[in-house]
Amino acid sequence: MQYLNEKLCVGFAVNGNNEPDFLKKRVEKSMLSCGKKHWLGHTLRGQAPHSGSVQMRTNDYLSIARDVRITNAEIRALQAQGHGEAISQVFVHDKLDQHRAFEQRIAQLMRADDAVLCMSGYCANTGLLQAIAAPETPVFIDIQAHASLWEGGAAARATARPFRHNNPGHLERQLREHGPGIVVVDAVYTLLRSEPETDQGR
Ligand SMILES: Cc1ncc(COP(=O)(O)O)c(C=O)c1O
Repeated sequence: MQYLNEKLCVGFAVNGNNEPDFLKKRVEKSMLSCGKKHWLGHTLRGQAPHSGSVQMRTNDYLSIARDVRITNAEIRALQAQGHGEAISQVFVHDKLDQHRAFEQRIAQLMRADDAVLCMSGYCANTGLLQAIAAPETPVFIDIQAHASLWEGGAAARATARPFRHNNPGHLERQLREHGPGIVVVDAVYTLLRSEPETDQGR
């Protein structure tokens, strides 16, 4: 298989007959046909913002990523200690380094007992559900919840019990049918920009 990187299109090309059938079919279906038909060659490419567009794709919600005070602090920290131990934090037992100090500072700011810093929202969601759901735990999940939450439930081998978007009545029926479990909603739904129905005290 060959990875292609062209101007507007990143994709995979399957070489001749050397690839197993399942791989050729999968790549053809998910990367080539769908990509060309729906995404102009790539899920995230082919369309550029025009003047006046509001950029919603970035995580820099507060527009502070280019703040010179932050970039200077990052430079100072990197110069002082490089990338630290450059190892997954799960192996750094009980060590008070800058990473741990940052987690403790975040916990303090959030008035929480402790904090675990993850490298992305995707990792945080997946890790959280994987940690708190057991295979026998029903996971009641809004049908529009972010993919990372679905993936966390799947990683825990828990059964997803989806309920209609922002529909507490449907959630309640699912709860009655399947018993107690974990209810999963987003604070803001990525695609619809809607917020969860929490005002009904359920
Ligand atoms: C609701 C929601 N959850 C999780 C994520 C994943 O976060 P990250 O991009 O930091 O991995 C996103 C990203 O857009 C999101 O919109």
